[in-house]
Amino acid sequence: MAEGSAGTVVVLGTGGTIAGKAGDAADHIGYRAGQIGVEALLAAVTPQAGAAADVRWVTEQVAQIDSKDMDFAVWRALAARCAHWLAQDEVRAVVVTHGTDTLEETAYFLETLLAPDKPLVLTCAMRPATALMADGPQNLLDAVTVTLDARAGGVLVVAAGAVHAARAVRKRHPYRLDAMDSGEAGPVAVVEAGQTRWFGKITRDPSARWSDDAIKKIISREGLPRVEIVLSHALADGRLVDGLVQDGVRGLVVAGTGNGTVHAALLAALERARAQGVRVVRASRCELGQVLPLPNDPFEPSEGLSPVKARIRLMLELARAEA
Ligand code: SIN
Repeated sequence: MAEGSAGTVVVLGTGGTIAGKAGDAADHIGYRAGQIGVEALLAAVTPQAGAAADVRWVTEQVAQIDSKDMDFAVWRALAARCAHWLAQDEVRAVVVTHGTDTLEETAYFLETLLAPDKPLVLTCAMRPATALMADGPQNLLDAVTVTLDARAGGVLVVAAGAVHAARAVRKRHPYRLDAMDSGEAGPVAVVEAGQTRWFGKITRDPSARWSDDAIKKIISREGLPRVEIVLSHALADGRLVDGLVQDGVRGLVVAGTGNGTVHAALLAALERARAQGVRVVRASRCELGQVLPLPNDPFEPSEGLSPVKARIRLMLELARAEA
């Protein structure tokens, strides 16, 4: 990036409520996600992005989906476009517009795979773009504000005035505008009147940075190794796990009770699975805290990752081992 230049900010659209349309401005739930193009979303906020007056904008529509339907084809395309743009000298940051439902998974996938130094900022909305008081434009404007801050780096999520690290963020509420939350870790920053106020250093995942070659191999795959999540609960049994093993599952994440404890019947099935070479990770179905190692732990602890993120890490580890 030339000295003194604001550089290029690339905005990639993937759909979601931020791009959603309802028939009625008062309707917040009966809408269709992924209807408005990313160029139009950006055009609605750039006049307000005063600090970004000399930014060069690039937009690309990578997908146009409801993020509940996220699949590997979209992840692969998104990761490829993010890697491409972040490698360009003139690009200072990439912003991704995304649905809230699987935002935390996409953020963690991109952070684990790409671990970028430059900011890769995901943003979203809880109300469709047609709502009387839509939250998407402000969230997108805030995301742009974060990209212009010299302290921003790595994969971040910006929503409802808060900035979250990819590792901690999760959707915590089905309806409220501040649905995205970082639990005990808290947000890493807030955006206030066009300024980013940071709370400290961002904690990033300790896993090793992937080489460009390893990233290319993941992006060129048709899919990731099969890993499923099973839940431990009252009256649990092992039939689901036995069926998954028979069906060729490569890894299992158990969302256990409390400190990742597992119903005896399910535990027996998971031990049978492990004996057959299936990797088993122990996470907790509790929203806060992290599973602590047990003496003679039969399974791998999730190290504070939620079950959905532990699953992504395991899929990527299995894929990396095959590469
Ligand atoms: C989606 O995740 O695409 C729909 C829901 C949302 O964005 O809030």
